[in-house]
Amino acid sequence: MHISIEEIKTLLDRAVEARGFSYSPYSHYMVGAALLTKNGEIITGCNVENAAYGPSNCAERTAFFTGVSKGLREFRAIAIAGGKRNGESDFAYPCGVCRQVMAEFCDPDSFYIIVGKSREDYRVHTLRELLPESFGAANLKV
Ligand code: THU
Repeated sequence: MHISIEEIKTLLDRAVEARGFSYSPYSHYMVGAALLTKNGEIITGCNVENAAYGPSNCAERTAFFTGVSKGLREFRAIAIAGGKRNGESDFAYPCGVCRQVMAEFCDPDSFYIIVGKSREDYRVHTLRELLPESFGAANLKV
């Protein structure tokens, strides 16, 4: 695996910190994400909900779109921390839409998705494990 335990713990800490900014007055489900670039920069994001529901954005996409809008396109890993506002933390797996956004920018076998209940209790997956047989730019090549 090309990510160290130390990097995983740092990312989990940053995801938990970002979760604190979650704007989730409708679902009360709070999510934070910390995205690591190939240069070692960490971009964070939280879920941002909306009274019209549809415009809501997941934490993972907030982090990706923040990174891409700063000119960053090469990523190594993302850590996600989530759960109900007053409940235990979940293993907060990314939704299908966020997995598809990851596939746009990340290598399926070397991009790691870390879902953590705590710094000690986490799981690490490759993007390919969570989004097998994906549709992507290669399908549109003429
Ligand atoms: N949510 C995320 O932020 N990431 C996910 O991958 C799953 C769901 C958010 C969206 C919404 O604000 C709340 O969790 C409940 O669906």
